[in-house]
Amino acid sequence: MQSEILAIIYLLASVTFIVGLKMLSSPATARKGNLIAAGGMVTAIAGTIFLYRDEEGNALHNYGWIFGGLLIGSVIGVLAAKKVKMTAMPEMVSLFNGMGGACAALISISEYLDWHLVAQFALIDESWQSVVVSHRATLLVIILGCFIGSVSFAGSVVAWGKLKSKIKDYSFKGQHFLNLGVLLIIMVASLLFVFIMPLNAYLFLLIFVAALIYGILFVLPIGGADMPVVISLLNSFTGVAAACGGFLYNNKVMLTGGILVGAAGTLLTILMCRAMNRSLRNVLIGSFGGTASAAGGQQQAGGSYKEINITDAAMVMGYAHKIIVVPGYGLAVAQAQHVCQELEELLEEKGVEVKYAIHPVAGRMPGHMNVLLAEADVPYDKLLEMEQANEEFKSADVVLVLGANDVVNPAAKHDKTSPIYGMPILEVEDAKLVIVNKRSMKPGYAGIENELFFKPKTSMLFGDAKGVLQKLVTEVKSL
Ligand code: TAP
Repeated sequence: MQSEILAIIYLLASVTFIVGLKMLSSPATARKGNLIAAGGMVTAIAGTIFLYRDEEGNALHNYGWIFGGLLIGSVIGVLAAKKVKMTAMPEMVSLFNGMGGACAALISISEYLDWHLVAQFALIDESWQSVVVSHRATLLVIILGCFIGSVSFAGSVVAWGKLKSKIKDYSFKGQHFLNLGVLLIIMVASLLFVFIMPLNAYLFLLIFVAALIYGILFVLPIGGADMPVVISLLNSFTGVAAACGGFLYNNKVMLTGGILVGAAGTLLTILMCRAMNRSLRNVLIGSFGGTASAAGGQQQAGGSYKEINITDAAMVMGYAHKIIVVPGYGLAVAQAQHVCQELEELLEEKGVEVKYAIHPVAGRMPGHMNVLLAEADVPYDKLLEMEQANEEFKSADVVLVLGANDVVNPAAKHDKTSPIYGMPILEVEDAKLVIVNKRSMKPGYAGIENELFFKPKTSMLFGDAKGVLQKLVTEVKSL
């Protein structure tokens, strides 16, 4: 009876994962979708703890370990999630993802130790050959879970270190050959392990250690700006490793969850690459955003630029018909989303139409600008996706660029030597006037100068985004 109830719980939990994932695709439903999927996960965990029975009908007994682990993990998770700054979110995702990879690898290690014990007993009565043959698929999944989980763990920890600026990009000549060599060793050792020497625990240990080394080597040379793409890729690895665990335990909900994470991570990786107009191969072996941005970028002489003061900017905006705001990483750093929304309301009271143009890789994580503006209760129907925005700029009187840089850099369209060449951008120049707010003429993440700032239609409004927006609010009120 218990196992039937558990099967139904697993089915329902799997449905909540799919529904939750679907709801995550829109900012309007994302929060609810997250809660629904989390609810499904809690039910599946509780069901497993209380209703699981092994083949002999025994329930779980090690409750001290289970609840101890759950308690410690939950407290750390809640505190970390409450404390984390929005701009540090990719770091936290990376670390948590690494923990998922480590869990999957530990499952494989524990399952191998169990299997090893059984096979050693079989050695005594000389039936071990048949034990090996009948368990070949299991051995294959054990080694896959161990390999993928370890790569994901080691790679995610390095990615976390890089995002925290504790680990520097590091590459040397022949690095990719070394990586391929380590991968080859892992593949040969895995085949040996599964088909010839499954009882050799040293071989298993070698694969485990080599996988950790591969995870480190694989992420070490990748540039900082590409980290979110790599994290998403590692996330999909963790999903596949968790699915291996689901296979080993014959646990359907773990299998479904792992496959969904694996598939979603892969799709997100592809979408991010497309948004930056780069191939995954190029991300993995290129160095865009790495050295250039780490070095603070190279400033070229870009000519002269115009400045505008707060009063004039407020005047132009207060008497415009249509304004499109382009939010970027700087708006998130300044935490100026609320005052930005206040300005939007004020302008609308004066009859100005205000919209927001969202570039898919503005900020530092997927959906960064959507989350930021949602925090300030900006209605979703005011957000324009890139293609839509590029149509609407033509009819805008003013474009207000707030802490965005690379995503509005026209060099991406024509300068073949630019590291962002080919990345689709927000074509703000099509508007009648462009006001750019940032603190200085320093470059953005890609470390390159922005020719937009030197165009005749562009006026620079220097200062911290929050301070500037507060002053604009005061000025617009007095119009
Ligand atoms: P960036 O090109 O990084 O430019 C941000 C600008 O904000 C900087 O030039 C900076 O200039 C300004 N700024 C910083 N703090 C500010 C503050 N307090 N007030 C006002 N301005 C401030 O940002 P973007 O246009 O959003 O482009 C995102 C970049 O990150 C792209 O290159 C993208 O490929 C990359 N990237 C994106 C993602 C995802 S998934 N979103 C992931 C990784 C990398 P000042 O220093 O002069 O103020």
